[in-house]
Amino acid sequence: MNEPLVLGIETSCDETAVGIVRGRTLLANIISSSVSEHARFGGVVPEIASRAHLESMQGVLHQALHMAGIRLKDIDGVAVTAGPGLIGALLVGTSSASAISLALDKPLYGVNHLAAHIAVDGLENGDISEPCLALLVSGGHTSLLQVNDLVRDIQPLGSTIDDAAGEAFDKIARILDLDFPGGPSIDREAKAGDPDAIAFPRGLTSGTDGEHKFDFSFSGLKTAVARYLEKTPLYVRADVAASFQEAVVDVLVAKTIEAARSTGIESVVIAGGVAANSRLREWAQKRCADAGLTLRIPKAGLCTDNGAMVAALGAYAMERGATPSDPALEALSSVGVGQILWG
Ligand code: KG4
Ligand code: ZN
Repeated sequence: MNEPLVLGIETSCDETAVGIVRGRTLLANIISSSVSEHARFGGVVPEIASRAHLESMQGVLHQALHMAGIRLKDIDGVAVTAGPGLIGALLVGTSSASAISLALDKPLYGVNHLAAHIAVDGLENGDISEPCLALLVSGGHTSLLQVNDLVRDIQPLGSTIDDAAGEAFDKIARILDLDFPGGPSIDREAKAGDPDAIAFPRGLTSGTDGEHKFDFSFSGLKTAVARYLEKTPLYVRADVAASFQEAVVDVLVAKTIEAARSTGIESVVIAGGVAANSRLREWAQKRCADAGLTLRIPKAGLCTDNGAMVAALGAYAMERGATPSDPALEALSSVGVGQILWG
């Protein structure tokens, strides 16, 4: 189908989000976040997130339709994040999407949240080249992926063996007494610090880590930061933030370049919430340019969870003739990126 008009619904975590695209063109992107309700707990509370989705869904949907200047019945299809994510939160999205699909008799596409993070890049930079290499860095996942076909074939090359990159940012921000979510707080704090002040460890990068060549580990770094703070009562917070961030970014970029070299793939996409990190964007741009690789990173506002990314993947699915999902599609809290669409 040429340039389908697709509604995308995202509720896998704490954002109730609806996006509308026509092919690769972004028409609307509305997000209501319950983040402030979770802040005092230092992490997302699933029950609070689910209730917030129920309360926000209708309003967010109407705002998105208004922004796009369309009526609900105009859409060609509806896409929804069906996993991975918090199960109660996902169910609000899948129930809403199913209801819309049934009421309008339009196809429904259950999509993988991780693949949607990659697909959103198409809204800014046009069709992604396939195959490409994707570094996916979010609150729950850190993976290097070989994207052969965005809707049919994504192969994992490596992933984190402990914490996700975003999780590491959130945990370190907490011990540094910075606001939740930690990623943006550390990004801001680090601007005033020296990234070379403290030599924190780079996990799984030594020569002996051959079997984990494209895997990541951030738990040793987390322990090293905690020890440093214990030993250094008069530590400079901005220096700790900057040095921690540098250690994460250094590993992410080095492994991505190495994976490109090893697969011979010359096109790289960085996606997911942590791709909003200013130092990661800057460093990846420099290193990829030096290595002769083409780098694409969606703008920061499209890196963190949103509905446009879901709609974007839905549009690719429709254009490429993918089979729609059953209206009773099953939300899955834990699912690999290999399952891109719910058949
Ligand atoms: O993709 P995302 O919005 O949600 C998940 O699918 O997990 O990613 C959220 C994660 C959080 O851990 C947050 O701290 C991190 O992305 N993040 C950042 C930045 N903005 C968001 N991490 C580092 N620097 C940032 N500027
Ligand atoms: Zn995400």
